[in-house]
Amino acid sequence: KRLILVGPPGCGKGTQSPIIKDEYCLCHLATGDMLRAAVAAKTSLGIKAKEAMDKGELVSDDLVVGIIDEAMKKSSCQKGFILDGFPRTVVQAQKLDEMLGNQGIKIDKVLNFAINDSILEERITGRWIHPSSGRSYHTKFAPPKVPGVDDVTGEPLIQRKDDNPEVLKSRLAAFHTQTKPVIDYYAKKGVLAQLHAEKTPNEVTAEVQKVLSS
Ligand code: AP5
Ligand code: ZN
Repeated sequence: KRLILVGPPGCGKGTQSPIIKDEYCLCHLATGDMLRAAVAAKTSLGIKAKEAMDKGELVSDDLVVGIIDEAMKKSSCQKGFILDGFPRTVVQAQKLDEMLGNQGIKIDKVLNFAINDSILEERITGRWIHPSSGRSYHTKFAPPKVPGVDDVTGEPLIQRKDDNPEVLKSRLAAFHTQTKPVIDYYAKKGVLAQLHAEKTPNEVTAEVQKVLSS
């Protein structure tokens, strides 16, 4: 399958992705994770992306389209993929259509993680991540077995620099002005499926499975 996950910061894209990935053997392409890795490694891409990310603004379309184009060429992505956090602008969606059209493939489903903004601050401020795998935890909703430590590797967890109430405000503004139109774009194509992302992680997983089996 070829899937897109769309929704505001903290809606649960990164939480559901590994579950869908394991079930359907898809590759998980999260532009946010790739950009954070580039920032940590201080590559030229990371240096260009850092300022916008720290402010909670979107990185330029050219940069993210470039990394997705590169990543989708990997053989592990040929059978299917989950795009998590991409496309986030209508321009990115159009570029993606071009890329896929050139290969004669198309998107099967776009999962819209619909949720009220008011819930998101608590989700974001309680999140701890394992940077190298992208696994995320929550102090209240999904605590690790040992506080501050990744369950799988035993490595330390960190908080994201943009996970604070101030930067969340601009991330939400970017979502509403630039990414909402992407949801309409896919609704018109008839591939949009709605999820109730305010439910518990297990309930959301069940909804995802229902959509994907239909
Ligand atoms: P990105 O990393 O994509 O961040 P985001 O969209 O803000 O999304 P998040 O990762 O914050 O949310 P999520 O939905 O993955 O939440 P999670 O599942 O972890 O992007 C970061 C930045 O990179 C952007 O601001 C931008 O600068 C740049 N960027 C990235 N892509 C770009 C693009 N295409 N174009 C331009 N710029 C781009 O869940 C959050 C927390 O809640 C966790 O702690 C989790 O445990 C918990 N949780 C999850 N589900 C539930 C639930 N159902 N109930 C209770 N708690 C839950
Ligand atoms: Zn995420």
